[in-house]
Amino acid sequence: SEKKIGLFVGSLRKGSYSKVLAHFIEGLSSEVFSYKMIEIGDLPLYNQDFDDHGPVPDSYTRFRDAVKLLDGFIFITPEYNRSVPAVLKNALDVGSRPYGHSVWSSKPGAIISDSPGIYGGFGANHHLRQSLVFLNVFPMQQPESYLAKINSSINEQAEITSDSLKDTLVSFVEAFEKWVKTVQA
Ligand code: FNR
Repeated sequence: SEKKIGLFVGSLRKGSYSKVLAHFIEGLSSEVFSYKMIEIGDLPLYNQDFDDHGPVPDSYTRFRDAVKLLDGFIFITPEYNRSVPAVLKNALDVGSRPYGHSVWSSKPGAIISDSPGIYGGFGANHHLRQSLVFLNVFPMQQPESYLAKINSSINEQAEITSDSLKDTLVSFVEAFEKWVKTVQA
């Protein structure tokens, strides 16, 4: 029984550090847990008229159907102006509606924030946590992951050059897999 975990990246940038981290986590997929990035860049800004009066964008339907099939979520995000990048908040909003049909509820989640700066995206991490708690996602409390100075651990070829960063990500994912089992027990 494979557990499907969706990776949601808070950056659309081609050279995104957060995307590099997500690709590394995809590579940690096993027979038990599979990790796959879920596209969020094609979701129009949420407008309730789409749901109330139609037409519902195809990308909304595709996204909602994809999230429904998941057994858990890992959010990997930079911080924009000390908060969650709009593209990621938008994806949360799209998945939370129509009212009463949220696709997020009752599943385990985890947050990795990263930044070239020294605070590691702490503000984004905790603002995201607030929304997840409201959406009835169960965000893993420990270990936390605020990856500061991320640019010094990823090279121009989008490779992670730091063994300690790789170790950190591997331990984080191991802890998350235990968390998934705890939540679903
Ligand atoms: C940033 N950046 C940033 N960094 C940070 O640590 N705290 C912040 O509040 C912000 N604010 C911010 C706002 C906007 C609009 C942009 C575009 C950027 C810098 C950010 O961490 C940096 O660009 C990262 O490289 C973005 O992550 P990706 O795209 O590499 O995943």
